[in-house]
Amino acid sequence: MAQFVKVAKESELPDTEGTFEVVEGKGTLVEVEGNKIALFKLDGEVFAIDGTCTHDGGPLSEGSVQGDEVVCPQCRARFSIVSGQARGLPAMEDVASYEVRVTDDNVEVEV
Ligand code: FES
Repeated sequence: MAQFVKVAKESELPDTEGTFEVVEGKGTLVEVEGNKIALFKLDGEVFAIDGTCTHDGGPLSEGSVQGDEVVCPQCRARFSIVSGQARGLPAMEDVASYEVRVTDDNVEVEV
């Protein structure tokens, strides 16, 4: 049964601050019940997607961010940070996205 699990402090997550420039170091890797999840804060809103690229396992939390997309650092597939949708080759499959809620300063992800 799905439940919300506390994974991070919202105040500690780096924010993209609404820029559409390519920005580095904005993802945060967390592990919940064996799942690697990448957190991103886009202009104040927190999103969670699967942290492992569907192409060949690249670490999406280490990818650069442009707008609402993360670029896989391994071979540059793009994914929507909001929905997990694959938006650029070589990835053909979406990554999972997770429901997020923020209570006080606590970021919780539904797993
Ligand atoms: S592992 Fe992510 S694009 Fe290849």
